[in-house]
Amino acid sequence: MCGIFAYTGSKNAGPLLLKGLVSLEYRGYDSAGVFMPESGVVRAKGAVAELRKKIPKNFTGRSGIAHLRWATHGEPSEKNAHPHADCGGNIYVAHNGIIENFRELKRALQSKGHTFRSDTDTEVLAHLIEEHMAHTKKFEHAVLTALHEVRGTYGLVAQCKANPDKIVAARMGSPVVLGVGTRERFVASDPSPIIPHTQKVIFLEDGEVAVIMPTSHAIVKLDATKVKRGATTIDWGAEKVKKNGHKHFMLKEIMEGPEVLENTLRGRLVLEKGRAKLGGLESVAKELKKIERFIIVACGTAYYAGLIGEYMLEEYAGIPVEVELGSEFRYRSPVLNQRTAVIAISQSGETADTLAAVREGKKRGALTLGIVNAVGSTIARETDAGVYNHAGPEMGVASTKALISQLEALVLFTLFFGRERQMSLRTGCEIAQELKTIPEKVAVILANHGKIEKLAKKYAYARDFLFIGRKYNYPVALEGAIKLKEVSYIHAEGYASGEMKHGPIAMIDKKFPTVAVVPSDSVYEKNLSNIHELKARGGPVIAIATEGNTEIAKIADDCVYVPKTIEILSPILSVVPLQLFAYYMAHQKGLNPDRPRNLAKSVTVE
Ligand code: AGP
Ligand code: GLU
Repeated sequence: MCGIFAYTGSKNAGPLLLKGLVSLEYRGYDSAGVFMPESGVVRAKGAVAELRKKIPKNFTGRSGIAHLRWATHGEPSEKNAHPHADCGGNIYVAHNGIIENFRELKRALQSKGHTFRSDTDTEVLAHLIEEHMAHTKKFEHAVLTALHEVRGTYGLVAQCKANPDKIVAARMGSPVVLGVGTRERFVASDPSPIIPHTQKVIFLEDGEVAVIMPTSHAIVKLDATKVKRGATTIDWGAEKVKKNGHKHFMLKEIMEGPEVLENTLRGRLVLEKGRAKLGGLESVAKELKKIERFIIVACGTAYYAGLIGEYMLEEYAGIPVEVELGSEFRYRSPVLNQRTAVIAISQSGETADTLAAVREGKKRGALTLGIVNAVGSTIARETDAGVYNHAGPEMGVASTKALISQLEALVLFTLFFGRERQMSLRTGCEIAQELKTIPEKVAVILANHGKIEKLAKKYAYARDFLFIGRKYNYPVALEGAIKLKEVSYIHAEGYASGEMKHGPIAMIDKKFPTVAVVPSDSVYEKNLSNIHELKARGGPVIAIATEGNTEIAKIADDCVYVPKTIEILSPILSVVPLQLFAYYMAHQKGLNPDRPRNLAKSVTVE
């Protein structure tokens, strides 16, 4: 949520900063702004294209800071766009996060004569730094002192006109990455705008401040003690973050499914033993033997992955599992101990609610594990151990390829823990063998995308949708609904098939379609009865069914078939048509699914 990009070096910073912002655009697009000490500031409401229109020809310089906003305090407008300035117009700050005590700071600064121009919480930072510049010659000292007075979260960059080469960056709760080039340095909210320039990066930790010049950088803690940290190399190339000829990242990322599933599996399946080899868990092997209970914490789509993981782990590993929303976990008093492992699932590894749950778990003595996609992200670093998805960068706001790789990682967890406990060699081998075939089965579904596009045309009239599923595919129904809502703004509800008769069936009429996820599994017959109930009330039904099912087409209005697989793996297949359906529905409505309104990719505020 919110994108920051900054540069200091010898190149013309203007075009470079704008290009960087474009690759961060999935993080926020309420407004955009750029400050270059040698040219001044330009801000615009809306996305980077709007900002670009306003940039004058002579806007040049060798350094600058840029920002994309996802508004928390103050409406999206030019006035509230970052970077924000002090009274003198010398100091500029771009910020991601929330300054919780900004009201009291603002009042105190106003009483000292400071004039505020925006409604944001961020602006207090610029005025606070200005206040401290009166007592020090060094810009970084003023920033450090100011940070001692603020409460809340920040990933920020600050610059002042007097030192055009220098950028000060700081982190508390919101991600900040430093890119180390040859005679140039970059700062960003995530590595994607940095990797076209350099693959060497340093992730700042909470409570760290970096002072950055074109040929040097120094990191200190808030108490000014020095931090020594070498750069790490990011191994995904720049081409991975482009759209590869697709109109939108969302479609590109759905289409990457087979490759992503191969990457998540690579080197992790021991077929003949029916086991999973998870190197990321080796460091805690001893602790894992004692685990008696899992609590999965996650948000949104990752939470639905967790719900599916609950079915998997309980059925095959015999370990009790609870799945909890990151945003709720710490507000009750969860009972944890050393025999509990908290598993955080997160694509970005930066979701504030999930991170808070990890920290709560740690505080209460639990072992913390991560299933995280973004390498080096905060959750990946703060958990005791974990596995990476290796799904590559996900740019579409709607999580698609990350979800299927999360499901695959959960199957690997299930094999890993199951074979250590109650799962037989035979069952382990059966799951492992079938898992190997899943990428090509997803490819078969994707090849049928034209059929789903046609369905979207047919059902574009609908204002509401119900999604139903049972057992492993109940959370798939929840996911189908959230995907449709977030990219096409169509009201959709996901329900357990059996729950329909307890309420939602009252809504059904001939204009209220249902997507029923009904693979040929152990609950197929029961699901079929639910479809009959819907048809009896005139509701149109689209069935997501297993290839070879000849009966379902006689009952449902439309059918999408997915290849046959075993029950535990069926969600990985049945969710793909739902992702495509949401994409094409958005397309039908002329909406850009990569930029759903009011949403941002990485939700780094609570
Ligand atoms: C997915 O389509 C959503 N936009 C959202 O629910 C997302 O899954 C959630 O915010 C969690 O994000 P994370 O995986 O990066 O933690
Ligand atoms: N709280 C700040 C604002 O509302 C920053 C939000 C963001 O992270 O984009 O402007």
